[in-house]
Amino acid sequence: MSNAEIGLIGLGTMGAALALNIADNGFGIAVWNRTTEKTTAFVDDAGPLANKITPTQTLKELVAAIKIPRAIILMVPAGQAVDDQIAALRPLLDDDDMIIDAGNANFHDTNRRAQEASDLPFLGIGVSGGEEGARFGPSIMGGGSQAYWDRVAHILTAISAKHEGAPCATWMGEEGAGHFVKAVHNGIEYADMQMIAEVYGVMRDGLGLDSAAIGDTFAKWDTGPLRSYLVEISGKVATTVDPKTGKPMLDVIVDAAGQKGTGRWTAIEAQHLAAPIPAIEAAVVARNLSSQRDARAAGEDLFGAAPRHMAHDVMPLETLEEALIAGKIIAYAQGFDMIEKASDEFGWALPLPAIAEVWRQGCIIRSDMLDDMATALRENPERNLMMAPRFADTLKKTHGALRQVVAQGALHGIAMPALSSGLAYFDAMRTARGTANMIQGQRDFFGAHGFERIDGGTGQHGPWGD
Ligand code: 6PG
Repeated sequence: MSNAEIGLIGLGTMGAALALNIADNGFGIAVWNRTTEKTTAFVDDAGPLANKITPTQTLKELVAAIKIPRAIILMVPAGQAVDDQIAALRPLLDDDDMIIDAGNANFHDTNRRAQEASDLPFLGIGVSGGEEGARFGPSIMGGGSQAYWDRVAHILTAISAKHEGAPCATWMGEEGAGHFVKAVHNGIEYADMQMIAEVYGVMRDGLGLDSAAIGDTFAKWDTGPLRSYLVEISGKVATTVDPKTGKPMLDVIVDAAGQKGTGRWTAIEAQHLAAPIPAIEAAVVARNLSSQRDARAAGEDLFGAAPRHMAHDVMPLETLEEALIAGKIIAYAQGFDMIEKASDEFGWALPLPAIAEVWRQGCIIRSDMLDDMATALRENPERNLMMAPRFADTLKKTHGALRQVVAQGALHGIAMPALSSGLAYFDAMRTARGTANMIQGQRDFFGAHGFERIDGGTGQHGPWGD
């Protein structure tokens, strides 16, 4: 019987959570997984929601169980699996049935898939919030034709997180626009996480605080301007104890960060767009470096451990908090600037204020600050966020703290790639006369590339002395 509102393929962690969320919001959903045991177990565990869920054993059965015109969400691993799934599903569908890729696809793949779909309905949507978000309200960034989005918007907005009643689900633009915005979200996520980790490093290695004290500090910061999901969970991570050893959990975790690639995609794309996002790039580099554990250990043997220990009076916790506030504003400003550049480059008209709005709840980077960012972007979406009056005021008050933290880090050998590159970006962005005149001189000297004069002449070459 064709009565489910929507279908879903892929009952992994995110797919299963999203399917329960859809059922919980009153929509009938038909589900299919490559292995039927998973489908059976999923429905068995669904409790009262099971009566909204139609388990199916074949793709044909799945298609038959959904109302016409159909909409089917794919929640399969990004990459070839998505193409394979589309190839298996498309021949079973009618021409106005829609496929929705809700995985973490590379937006270039989504552009291609949208083009390959031609006039067959296809959407690529970015979904953020991890398992809990998918289950109880993620942030959703839609991409594809707006008419296709409108067909399923009632379901996607119903299942999304809400900020003071406003759904955190918005159509971003054509083709891969939703997945592009999700990638930048993840780039910002990397920078935010890295900056928190760097500040954790100062507390642990510089100030010698134990994990419980560090956890308390994050918990305290989570009641102020830094209030955010990532600061909140960092506090919880720091105060958790390993049941096996009784030690702080942080002390038993290997210091090598994993990554599925979305942060890297953002960094690569930023280079294509010539969008300066150094704090985000530094966060990706820091993850890469973290994996080189043997080389780092050899380096410590060879050069000796850095002095690291700091006197408490050179690094009050308030200074660290202010540095993190400044770093966060700078990293987000970079992410939004990249979105603006992509919008021009790809002709997408990406809605910057609405992007800040859908990130206010549900997603991993949700924070109070994003509400102010949304307001600042509503006032003027083209201005660099650092220059918006409310953030300029905060930066005027906090960049000194960022400078102090980065300087003390440098003096004590505590690496701070994201905070220090954030500071360099800030300083570059407040310097009207930079030093690229020297680069231009060098380029012209060895390559006769010509240069522009400050008095208005163009295309000058030399003359240079010997
Ligand atoms: C989200 C997250 C999520 C991400 C994982 C792992 O917004 O819910 O960004 O999409 O894929 O958190 O990412 P990494 O493995 O790259 O850290």
